[in-house]
Amino acid sequence: MKILVTGGAGFIGSNFIRYFLNSYPQDVVWNLDKLTYAGNLTNLADIASLPNYEFVRGDVCDSALVSHLLKKSFDAIIHFAAESHVDRSISGAQEFVHTNIQGTFTILEEARRQRVARFVHVSTDEVYGSMSPGELANERSPLSPNSPYAASKAAADLLVRSFFKTYGFPGIVTRSSNNYGPYQFPEKLIPLMISNALEGRKLPVYGDGLNERDWIHVEDHCRALDRVVRAGRPGEIYNIASGRPVTNLQIVLRLLEILGKSKELMEFVEDRPGHDRRYALDSSKVSSQLGWQITVSLDDGLRRTVQWYQENPDWVAKTRSGDYRAYYKKHYEQRGSTLANL
Ligand code: NAD
Ligand code: DAU
Repeated sequence: MKILVTGGAGFIGSNFIRYFLNSYPQDVVWNLDKLTYAGNLTNLADIASLPNYEFVRGDVCDSALVSHLLKKSFDAIIHFAAESHVDRSISGAQEFVHTNIQGTFTILEEARRQRVARFVHVSTDEVYGSMSPGELANERSPLSPNSPYAASKAAADLLVRSFFKTYGFPGIVTRSSNNYGPYQFPEKLIPLMISNALEGRKLPVYGDGLNERDWIHVEDHCRALDRVVRAGRPGEIYNIASGRPVTNLQIVLRLLEILGKSKELMEFVEDRPGHDRRYALDSSKVSSQLGWQITVSLDDGLRRTVQWYQENPDWVAKTRSGDYRAYYKKHYEQRGSTLANL
């Protein structure tokens, strides 16, 4: 199988590429990534020189580049590229609208023109909005996004749906809950709390800390995406989650316990505007139809994640300072246009 991954230098995309090439060493992966602040090629340092891996620096909104790239005849596209952080979407939504909506449209349109046989759009549980206590969203639940990030993802989901209904384009949407694991940018709750605690900084908990999220280890998400790419049905939506939401306070206290750090580091701060209270998904469809199950327990996953951040302080420091970004910017400026090099 020859696949194109967009956003493969980010957290989930890089974990997916590693998982995929380890699982199918005969397959071929191309990675299209703009290398925004969240894209980091050191996430794939162990993969970079493999003969069946190619990296292209570029923007999913660039239709000339995307059109040229898709002439490489891919069996499937897995579309991760997005602006992904809710807080950033609150302070500036423009990039979210551009990349998440225009970018998804651009790649969908080129994939349709060039008759790509399978397109997986990686979406989020946030499109369903906040769930009441005890309630689970299934794939037929109404969309009720509350942040500019969630709204931009919902718009992209609907574009995929419209391409299936209108043109018979083989698009599939996945909606995962919160991921955690190695290589996650330390702006998201779990890596932020671990790296702040390791540096003796305060751990900012929004509001009362009782908002609930349903955490899955990124490896479990990658396994689910693999099932969807190989066996998912065009036009379908698949939720991916553990089905066991926990409060932010439970997560932060457990991390402090694993790290052996004091609760005094925790600090309650002003709440996020429009902060969704509870995400909770019913993912029985992906389990019953595609045979996917959670394999990493939350406690084991948190321990492994803490250990990874403890062992990679250099990655955290350079990611936070933007050192990696500066290095790759210079490298790609020296190489000239990506399109010309394809
Ligand atoms: P991330 O922010 O870590 O990575 C995003 C990647 O996309 C980066 O490598 C970035 O450089 C790249 N990118 C951004 N704009 C681009 C553009 N215009 N052209 C090409 N590349 C571009 O994100 P993540 O957490 O890995 O999330 C990946 C996808 O999964 C996103 O679509 C997100 O909405 C979705 N998702 C994330 C989670 C989560 O918990 N992190 C959960 C459910 C769904
Ligand atoms: O649910 C899936 C989504 O999960 C993905 O679609 C998004 O891309 C991803 O960023 C994530 O969104 P959240 O907003 O849920 O994740 P975040 O890690 O930013 O926050 C998790 C919870 O922790 C949320 O209730 C807000 C809270 N929080 C977050 C930060 C960064 C804090 O209390 N303090 C913090 O400093």
